[in-house]
Amino acid sequence: MKKDNIVTPWEVKGEVDYDKLIKEFGVEKISDEILKRLKKHTKELHFMLRRKVFFAGRDLKFILDEYEKGNKFFIYTGRAPSGSVHLGHLMPWIFTKWLQDKFNAELWFQFPDEEKFLFSKKMTFKDTEKYLNENMLDIIALGFDPKKTHFIIDTKHADLMYKPACEVAKKITFSMVKSSFGLNEQSNIGSIFYTSMQAVPAFLPSIIKKKNIPCIIPHAIDQDPHFRISRDILPKLGYYKPASIQCIFLPPLTGTKGKMSSSEGYSILTTDNKKTVKDKINKYAFSGGQPTLEEHKKKGGNPDIDVSFQYLRMLLEEDDKKLEQIYNDYKSGKLTTGELKKYTIDKINTFLKKHQKEREKAKNMIDKFIYK
Ligand code: TRP
Repeated sequence: MKKDNIVTPWEVKGEVDYDKLIKEFGVEKISDEILKRLKKHTKELHFMLRRKVFFAGRDLKFILDEYEKGNKFFIYTGRAPSGSVHLGHLMPWIFTKWLQDKFNAELWFQFPDEEKFLFSKKMTFKDTEKYLNENMLDIIALGFDPKKTHFIIDTKHADLMYKPACEVAKKITFSMVKSSFGLNEQSNIGSIFYTSMQAVPAFLPSIIKKKNIPCIIPHAIDQDPHFRISRDILPKLGYYKPASIQCIFLPPLTGTKGKMSSSEGYSILTTDNKKTVKDKINKYAFSGGQPTLEEHKKKGGNPDIDVSFQYLRMLLEEDDKKLEQIYNDYKSGKLTTGELKKYTIDKINTFLKKHQKEREKAKNMIDKFIYK
């Protein structure tokens, strides 16, 4: 990857080249054989699998082998409270919900509320506490089953987590962390310790239930360095290596190559109203259309670099046939950029209307999800 193209858990800069990341990180593309085996159990494949939005992983074969032997896995994922939730965050969680439903699996959802406190100069614990609450609502709103879903919050569950984290930390040297995360002599020592906390939920259920349980972690590919280390350490402590299934990033409105980020004022937030969504898409969504309508009708647009189309493909349009029709019509010039944007705006607003209603209801449910 070029020098100015950076992908770490704390920074994604420049164009992301996923094939190069696969090589650099040493993850495996999800093979057709794995997809076939998954499909045997799930009947339909989630569109994010069909469209290679979830495109890579580690040890998926192991997870399926164990599952087929009757050794069920649990799911682990997480969110560091640090700001408002945007559409890009929802992508892996929507998939996680599907995985939970299809495999009737327990989900352990970590909220490392110290992570952004440690890694960002400005963030205070007062901020993270506010976002923790807000972020939990977004996750509950997606419909996770409270009976099978456990939220663990690093500072609240410190009594459960600190010992296992120390077990992990004892096996990690500063030089391992430096090379995996780009930390250096000037990094604060909390940030150096942090990855041991993110390793804990991958084996905490095994500790609690006093038996080894396989773990699968759905996550965006930038989190892989954490779990590469976890996979190294956990067998040394007597646990399975956690498996993972990894997705690409939902691009920012301004172009198809990077990652949607809360720090940009124009990311689409789950709390945005209809008009805000409309304005953001109309004003910022990068278009693969031609400069004039006339030219567009003649030459056609390019859906592959069109952000609205990519949002439909990755997140909003479940129907393959409909998506294909939009693709073809846009390419031929029959569908204009204005029409494509309008369709996307309506899809987002329909989704958000339901999400915001569920988010309201979630306010009385937080307690049911927090692990006790
Ligand atoms: N580090 C993640 C973030 O910045 C939060 C997280 C913790 C996580 N555990 C995880 C993400 C497991 C994916 C899977 O938001």
